Amino acid sequence: MVTRRELLERLGAAALGAGLAPLRRPSPPAPRQTPAPDVELELTAGLATSQILPGPATEVWRYSGRVVRGPAESLSQVRDSYLGPTLRLRQGQRVRIRFQNRLPDPSIVHWHGLDVPEEADGHPRLAVPGGREYVYDFQVTNRAGTYWYHPHPHMQTGPQVYRGLAGLLIVSDDEERKVGLPEGAQELTCVLQDRRFDAKNQFVYSTAMMDMETGMLGDRVLVNGRLRPEWSLGTRAYRMRVLNGSNARVYKLEWSDGTPMTILGTDGGLLSGPVTRKFVTLAPGQRLDLFLDLSKRPVGQTIELRSGAFPTADAGLDMGRAMGGMGRGMGMGMMGGGGGAAALGSPFSLLSLRVARREEGSSRLPERLSVLGPAWQPAPAAPVRRVPLTFQQMAWFIDGRAFEMADVAPAETVAAGSTAQWEFVNAGGPMGMQMAHPIHMHGRQFRVVSRSGAGPSNALRDGLVDDGWMDTVLVLPGETVRVQVTFSRFQGLFLYHCHILEHEDMGMMRNFRIA
Ligand code: C2O
Ligand code: CU
Ligand code: CU
Repeated sequence: MVTRRELLERLGAAALGAGLAPLRRPSPPAPRQTPAPDVELELTAGLATSQILPGPATEVWRYSGRVVRGPAESLSQVRDSYLGPTLRLRQGQRVRIRFQNRLPDPSIVHWHGLDVPEEADGHPRLAVPGGREYVYDFQVTNRAGTYWYHPHPHMQTGPQVYRGLAGLLIVSDDEERKVGLPEGAQELTCVLQDRRFDAKNQFVYSTAMMDMETGMLGDRVLVNGRLRPEWSLGTRAYRMRVLNGSNARVYKLEWSDGTPMTILGTDGGLLSGPVTRKFVTLAPGQRLDLFLDLSKRPVGQTIELRSGAFPTADAGLDMGRAMGGMGRGMGMGMMGGGGGAAALGSPFSLLSLRVARREEGSSRLPERLSVLGPAWQPAPAAPVRRVPLTFQQMAWFIDGRAFEMADVAPAETVAAGSTAQWEFVNAGGPMGMQMAHPIHMHGRQFRVVSRSGAGPSNALRDGLVDDGWMDTVLVLPGETVRVQVTFSRFQGLFLYHCHILEHEDMGMMRNFRIA
């Protein structure tokens, strides 16, 4: 286990840029000063197998866990899945999580969307080698919402998530409980991930330049680790929490029969009231809270959740221009990734929902859902920082810089509790190398203040939901998106990055320091 002293030394070493040599010096266990937690969990990352396709089982990396102290519902397994257990926490709880790394590689867990102290945020410089433990202590201060957890080791986040390391972290609070949304068996969770398989049913992770550029796309899309599952439901209203846990794929989510999507919430919890869209654009890292009323449907009917078609260029590299401009000899089969991946924008069905039985129950859709809070108000006096997203010499950059473990530029240093507007400018690069980048900031939920550029011709535009708290925002090709964020009270080094995990691993990530 990593003692507090060791940790502080490591944080200090990283801050000085003194390198990353893990400190293995034995030190006596430091006495804990933190009060006893309300919830204590053990979370282990290890090797496992999962029956995904007919035939041989797939080797996966998997989180497993158990409740050491606190309510039993703090942790529940996802049936028949490589996904990690779903963690259910309540606002205000003090949580301790003992993470055991039983992988052959270093790893560290990040609680995506949670506002936690620096040493609990899973920065890559805190990664522990296989066989060691890392203890997280934090209090849940976030509002109710659908968050998630995944590894964050240096340059290995993409492959580790791809092998199966990810899970949901659901926070509830009093405000949400009073709304009376569908719960229990009427609350569904749905994690979308695409994978490529070889002839023996094993995951293929390609590091071909093409796949690094678009991000790793699979040829099959899994829901909770299953291929196109069918769920039997009753004639009730359902709440459906959706996570795009894919490395790189953007979805254009819609119901197969044209029913509008009713959106209750985004990354950082409920909206002030429900909104509807014909389809919803969901980028890697983002979450969506949906409402689906099946109360008036006949038993026997099936409705599918699917991803609709859109032009590859609206989310991904414009291959036509890229190939023409760069003179690369790529065939049409390589569109959207080599090795037979389904192109970005190709349509497919994700999940079938079958109305299997008649059931009585309320199907009321509440008009008001939540109060977004004072921080939601526009702060026109807040400093604006322009953050260009660019592509140069086969690499992606944020504000002209690539990731360095402990490096922070002056513009990346902010005051604790201060409010700023950061404007992400998707400038792309020469020769049409342009992609949609889902930009994620650790720690705090932000709001979108404005979005311009891109043009109405982008098919994904109408599906964007900018009405709620978010920690990951999709910046379409050619777009400028301004977000407003009030930084955490926790000081230290935190990350912001593209959530296309291959872009992140290739350096499209930076630190910001809260001072
Ligand atoms: Cu979900 Cu830094 O990541
Ligand atoms: Cu995060
Ligand atoms: Cu990117």
